[in-house]
Amino acid sequence: AKIAVLISGAGTNMAALVYASRIGDCPYEVVLVASNDAQAPGLALAAAEGIATFAHPHKGMTREAHDAAMEDAVRQAGADYIVLAGYMRILSDDFVERWQGRMLNIHPSLLPLYKGLDTHARAIAAGDSHGGTSVHLVTPELDAGEVLAQVRVPIVTGDTPHSLAERVKLAEHQLYPRAVAEYVSRWRNPAWLLERLRERAL
Ligand code: GRF
Repeated sequence: AKIAVLISGAGTNMAALVYASRIGDCPYEVVLVASNDAQAPGLALAAAEGIATFAHPHKGMTREAHDAAMEDAVRQAGADYIVLAGYMRILSDDFVERWQGRMLNIHPSLLPLYKGLDTHARAIAAGDSHGGTSVHLVTPELDAGEVLAQVRVPIVTGDTPHSLAERVKLAEHQLYPRAVAEYVSRWRNPAWLLERLRERAL
């Protein structure tokens, strides 16, 4: 499968996706890294890795116009899936609906807990024993699509939102490539096929 990765920042999850795709018989290939911020450090890395990049600042544009520019780039790259990796723009409902079932996101909390921003600070403030990360399908409602995979990460004494975020990212870098690989090859999973067959029969 061909995937386009959308980023806004460091792009460490994007890097994890790229390097995992180079190992063994990974079922996906990163064909585009796109950002709403031309300065996103991840863009330079992607370019150095020989991956097509696209940057389109959103300033002064409507959400719809900006999304359309991103979508054009994704289609031109021939991507079958969009993988959000620290993409900090909310996408318009139309865009999301067109890609429903073919767009994934990683969110740094144990969803359904702590949708939105400042997840680590909120988990620490609540006295939670664990934070974590979730890979989910993107639906128009923010961070509310079906959760495909999760990893729990302990919160330790003295943790700050920053130290917890760093630890959660280590888990994300393991989880995201695996979850994407599993999702794009779900057709090959007998349990998945069986479920589809049952749905039709009932
Ligand atoms: C990750 O923690 C991800 O869960 C969240 O944004 C962060 C992106 O980090 N959505 P990076 O740019 O991949 O380093």
